[in-house]
Amino acid sequence: MPKQKKEVKKVTTHVLQEMKTAGEKISMLTAYDFTMAKIVDAAGIDVILVGDSASNVMAGHETTLPITLDQMIYHASSVVRAVDRALIVVDLPFGTYQGNSKEALNTAIRIMKESGAHAVKLEGGLEVTESIQRILTAGIPVMGHLGLTPQSIYKFGTYNVRAKEEAEAKKLMEDAVALEKSGCFAIVLEKIPAKLAEKVAKKVTIPVIGIGAGGGVDGQVLVFHDMVGLNNEFNPRFLRRYLNLYDDIKKAVGNYIKDVKSKDFPNSKEQY
Ligand code: KIV
Repeated sequence: MPKQKKEVKKVTTHVLQEMKTAGEKISMLTAYDFTMAKIVDAAGIDVILVGDSASNVMAGHETTLPITLDQMIYHASSVVRAVDRALIVVDLPFGTYQGNSKEALNTAIRIMKESGAHAVKLEGGLEVTESIQRILTAGIPVMGHLGLTPQSIYKFGTYNVRAKEEAEAKKLMEDAVALEKSGCFAIVLEKIPAKLAEKVAKKVTIPVIGIGAGGGVDGQVLVFHDMVGLNNEFNPRFLRRYLNLYDDIKKAVGNYIKDVKSKDFPNSKEQY
């Protein structure tokens, strides 16, 4: 008899909606490659975001703007091959959906077809609702992203907290409602005051997932490399580090170098 694969209950957009209704918080982390995605999925994460933060984290760019659609598809397909349970959401890269809903649809279709991911995410409010609606016509679930939207860094000028002033807070609330009306299945809120984020989560019926947006939302997302301490140069207030891998890995590499130089490695048991 062929070995039966263990049945896993996959996380879908409907499951996320049920979690919001039941008051169960949604856990989400980024992943950009097969090995890390396998670990994150095995740990039981609900949503994996193949974020365009890969532009910073994996490629060393200063912003998320340079990453290309082909590069996003490469990262997403590596993640898809690793994952059994989590919902996989992929960022539409900068310049592939703004101001042209046909291009947005083509971009989303390429991501879904070539990577096998389950949904896409894009940044912006009212100004991208036409693109969202067009993507939805192909049956592709869309996640929105408001607040500090890194693809607009040159408009904002800094990575500081957004929507602290009343006018921007009002616009953000209107945008969240517009995203829900357009058919988004969830919204990410990045780096905005906790009180405003909580208000948004109460106003819209779809799940709201925060990063630097306090505990009053329906779930949390962090960049994987930040939460395991692989990057020790990024220290925002909202980040909780669960490991200090930068130091641990540096120490391990130092020990390896020492063992090679001293001829301690390999020993007689580590050879053929
Ligand atoms: O690209 C990314 O990692 C993101 C998260 C910060 C939400 O969009």
